Amino acid sequence: MAITTHHRILRTFKSSENRMRGTVALIALANSLVSGACGPHAENTPPQWNKWEGRINTLISQMTLEEKLGQLTLQWGGQSEDGNPGVRKDSEEGLAALARSGKCGAFLGAHGAEYTNRLQQAAVEQSRNKIPLLIGNDVIHGYHTIFPIPLAEACSWNLQLIEETARVAAVEARAAGTNWTFAPMVDVTRDPRWGRIAEGAGEDPYLVSQIAAARVRGFQGQSLASNESVMACAKHFVGYGVAEGGRDYNVADISPQSLHEIHLPAFRSAVEAGVGSMMSAFNEVNGIPASGNRDTLKRILRDQWQFGGLVVSDWTSITEMVNHGFAVDNADAAVKAISAGVDMDMSSNSYFSTLGQAIKSGKVSESMIDEAVRHVLRMKYALGLFDHPYSDPSREKLLLSDRHRDVAREIARQSIVMLKNENDLLPLKETVASIAVIGPLADDHREALGTWAVIGKPSEVVPRLETSIISLLDGIRAHTPKSAVIHYAKGCELETDDAAGIEQAVSIAKSCDVVILAVGEGRDASGEAACRTSLQLPGIQQQLVEAVCAAGKPTVVVIQSGRPLAISWIAEHVPAILQAWHLGAETGHALADVLFGDFNPSGRLPVTIPRNVGQVPIYYSHKNTGRPPTSEKYTSKYLDVPWTPLYPFGFGLSYTTFKYDELRLARTSVQLPGNLEVALKITNTGNRRGAEVAQLYVRDLVASMTRPVRELKAFSRIELDPGETRELNFVVPLQNLGFYDADMNYVVEPGMFKVWVGPNSESELGAEFELVAAN
Ligand code: NOJ
Repeated sequence: MAITTHHRILRTFKSSENRMRGTVALIALANSLVSGACGPHAENTPPQWNKWEGRINTLISQMTLEEKLGQLTLQWGGQSEDGNPGVRKDSEEGLAALARSGKCGAFLGAHGAEYTNRLQQAAVEQSRNKIPLLIGNDVIHGYHTIFPIPLAEACSWNLQLIEETARVAAVEARAAGTNWTFAPMVDVTRDPRWGRIAEGAGEDPYLVSQIAAARVRGFQGQSLASNESVMACAKHFVGYGVAEGGRDYNVADISPQSLHEIHLPAFRSAVEAGVGSMMSAFNEVNGIPASGNRDTLKRILRDQWQFGGLVVSDWTSITEMVNHGFAVDNADAAVKAISAGVDMDMSSNSYFSTLGQAIKSGKVSESMIDEAVRHVLRMKYALGLFDHPYSDPSREKLLLSDRHRDVAREIARQSIVMLKNENDLLPLKETVASIAVIGPLADDHREALGTWAVIGKPSEVVPRLETSIISLLDGIRAHTPKSAVIHYAKGCELETDDAAGIEQAVSIAKSCDVVILAVGEGRDASGEAACRTSLQLPGIQQQLVEAVCAAGKPTVVVIQSGRPLAISWIAEHVPAILQAWHLGAETGHALADVLFGDFNPSGRLPVTIPRNVGQVPIYYSHKNTGRPPTSEKYTSKYLDVPWTPLYPFGFGLSYTTFKYDELRLARTSVQLPGNLEVALKITNTGNRRGAEVAQLYVRDLVASMTRPVRELKAFSRIELDPGETRELNFVVPLQNLGFYDADMNYVVEPGMFKVWVGPNSESELGAEFELVAAN
């Protein structure tokens, strides 16, 4: 039987073993046990990628070993050290010479149609084999039109819109010569100390998987060969989000069950969506560095999942295996990486400089090199580069087009999560006569671009408006009636401890009807190598917040950050809070749309917000323990703060209210292979149109392995008019309710389950059902 969601072919059989609840229905990943070659007709290789195998064979047969190693080499190809446009001729000539000689088959960091065309020309017109170049870049959340950071986009729970932002990024990137993006990052993380939480879609494997597929579809479009598509790269394979202590590049110690249930699914989802490439991570998992891990790269990715695309290492992650203590030297590291299944070496140059000797000494076979070259050439063919290697410079006019900016504004609005709105302080009333706009991020034209806004340089983002990104202050000015007075004070810097500006900030707060206070983190405080042990507001911002609040005016705090911050004081003392993350080019318009009620906030948290850093890791999908927290002393909790989060996963407020009721199950006793069918009614009980994200969670109440207290299995984002009622019908394949047992078999066990549907991970409306063993 085929299962619908993960397209896996499963086989059901009865175990002779009697477990806790009698007969156990075991679903084994039969298909995954069939060891398949990673050859041309891999199951998850879209058929259109297999058209060129004959040509690839011919090409490989004509290539020298050095030329083959060149195809496995990815080098920095940037125009200048500061990343600004303008080509340093000497380096351009050096890079073109590499391409011409066939010593390098791919560049990263090269931008612009004309520049990349010149590099392509060296490869396709002047090299012996005329093989075009891959041009890769970190197009993480937009190319020139910068969208919200991925964590923020995830708050929209709007898969179509997320796909659309990736599509726009692809159109812009390909127009400017990029044919490969190192995105999406699909690492699941539950640690806000880790700076790269900003680049992912949060803590939940199901949500991250759905978003991974949406982004892959968006980047790659209908056809990779289109001049509007780029090859996506799911990264970082695998376990990078579990870096111990939230410290980047640190080790990850992950049980096999967690690896398969939490960390691998999003990569699998990306593969099933047709992702063209995967990136092997920096970290080790359980003692094996990801770039030398045959088990994950060969057994799981190639053999089980039948991935037919290209595997690239992360930046020098091959030679870093020496530091890991896994390889003697760079040559040994290269042998280990190619043997494990890493096709392309990003920037360490170890493949090119050492694998020739490894072949001579018999450590590596030439057919292993050929297989890696095959993966590279297959994707170059799939990208249409052999037929159309050049970009049309006239298409660069698409960059930052009005339509793209409209998409940026829409996703930015949908990324904002309203965490608190006491006494309906928001939206601001039309009668408001004076507004104090305060804070180090209130008139920011840089930080809201977020991490990895590689091309969205502040000065380039809004050339038509001759300013930089739309700041909150710009947005408020554009929205406020002329009659209203706006006062601005920075109050303090983001990170220094100079309190001199606080007095002026307090004084303008006192003089106005309402205060909008923008605090948070700069763009360099999250992303790669940007980890923190504190989740407090940096610098003296907390002092600013407390002083401004003491002015006694209705205050809205806008948090702009790349990670969840511990904002307990603000949650207790400030009447309205917007979690805005780093929203990109349209920050100010999007925030003003929400503040003034032109847009009804609909964002929902894809991560738990902790009360303080000591609670980390804290996530909704935890286990119950033998002593779940109660008022009794000897239960699982803290002395100093409640064990619960400040704001739970899935949470977010709206200017309207929704009522969930009449939850019904089609059957309270269900059997494999079948579905869990849940119907319920949702009514917009307020007086504004609004979007709601209905979330379905399941708990397997007793199992042979302990199960999380809740797991997200489905969601639906709907928009309702005031008074409107909609019936929602969820259909969840029962095969999705399984887990990996002690022997690492995927099993769906009979027994009692509970299902809830509601507005967040703590909602109460639910029902029980029994899953009975298959006949
Ligand atoms: C290192 C990062 O870990 C990876 O995500 C990125 O794609 C590469 N550098 C290339 O910039």
